Amino acid sequence: MQALVVALGSALLLAFVASSASALSLDYYDKTCPKLEYKVRRAVKKAMKNDNTVPAALLRMHFHDCFVRGCDGSVLLNSTAKNTAEKDGPPNISLHAFYVIDHAKEALEAQCPGVVSCADILALAARDAVALSGGPHWDVPKGRKDGRISKAIDTRQLPAPTFNISQLQQSFSQRGLTMEDLVALSGGHTLGFAHCSSFQNRIHNFDAVHDVDPSMNPSFAAQLRKVCPAHNKVRSAGSTLDPTATKFDNVYYKMLLQGKSIFTSDQALLTAPKTRAVVSKFAESQGEFEKAFVKSMIKMSSLSGGGQEIRLNCRVVR
Ligand code: HEM
Repeated sequence: MQALVVALGSALLLAFVASSASALSLDYYDKTCPKLEYKVRRAVKKAMKNDNTVPAALLRMHFHDCFVRGCDGSVLLNSTAKNTAEKDGPPNISLHAFYVIDHAKEALEAQCPGVVSCADILALAARDAVALSGGPHWDVPKGRKDGRISKAIDTRQLPAPTFNISQLQQSFSQRGLTMEDLVALSGGHTLGFAHCSSFQNRIHNFDAVHDVDPSMNPSFAAQLRKVCPAHNKVRSAGSTLDPTATKFDNVYYKMLLQGKSIFTSDQALLTAPKTRAVVSKFAESQGEFEKAFVKSMIKMSSLSGGGQEIRLNCRVVR
C-alpha cells in the first residue's frame, strides 16, 4: 500500500513537473521584455559577420543542451573547482561561440534585468542561426527556466557519431522523438564542420576486412583520408559536413544518398527502409525538409528540464 502511495505520489509529481516545465508560450516575454527577439538576433548577426562558423556552433549547442537534462541552459555553465560541467565533457570540447549567448544576455540584462532565461536565449539563437543561414524561420515557444546542475559525465547521454540506427532510435525515442524527427534533425548537419576524430572509425581500420567503410563513396573516402591520415597530428583537421556548410539547404541529404556523409550515424539513416524513404523525400524537396525540420526543432527545443531560475550570468549559478 505504502509503495502504491509512493508510486502514485511520484507519478503525480512527475506529471506536475512535466506540465509546469512544458508551459512554454509564444508570447511569454511580450510584456516583460518586448525587445528580446530583436536583441538576440542582433547578437547572432554581429557574431556571424566576423565568424561564419557561429551558426553551426549555436545550433549544435542548443541540441546538446536539450539532450542532456532538457533545454535548461546547463550546457552554458562553466566548470568550477568542485564540478566538471557538461561543457568540458568529451563531446562538448568542440562546442564554441558561447560568447554570443553572453553578449545577448548582457544586452537583455540592461533592458529587462532578471527576466529572460539563458535557455530561452539559446533556443532563440539556434533558430536565428538557421534563419540567417538561409533556412526557415519559426516562432519559438518560450518560458524555459535555467537549471543549476551541469555534469560532464552526463554528456555520455548524447548520441555518438558511431551509432547505428537502433542506437539512434533509442536515443531519440527516450526523449519522445520519432524516426522522422531523427532524420529531420540530422539535417542540422547541413551546417558546420567535423574534426577527424569524429569519423576516424570510417576511414581507417573500419573492420576486420575493410580499411574503409564500404558504404562510403570511394573517392570521397580517399579525400577524407588525405585530410585525416591514420596518425593525424593536426588538431584542427577535418571536413565540412556538406559542401555548402554555411548554407542551410538540403544538400546534406543529397550527399547522403551518394555515400558522401561524414558520420556512421548519418549513413545509418539509409539502413532502415522507413528512414531511408524520409531521406529521399528531403533530398528531393527543400520545402518538405524545412517543414519537418521546424516541427522537429520545436519538439526538441521543448524538452523540459528541471530548471527553476533565471540566471544572471549564463556561465555561473548564483
Ligand atoms: C543524430 C545524432 C547526432 C550525432 C551522432 C551527431 C554528432 C555530431 C558530431 C560528432 C559532430 C562533429 C563534432 C566535431 O568533430 O567537432 C557534429 C557536428 C554538428 N552537429 Fe551533430 N550529431 C547529431 C545530431 C545533430 C542534431 C540533432 C543537430 C541539430 C539539429 C546537429 C547539429 C550539428 C551541427 C550544426 C554540427 C557542426 C558544429 C560546428 O561546426 O561547430 N547534430 N555532430
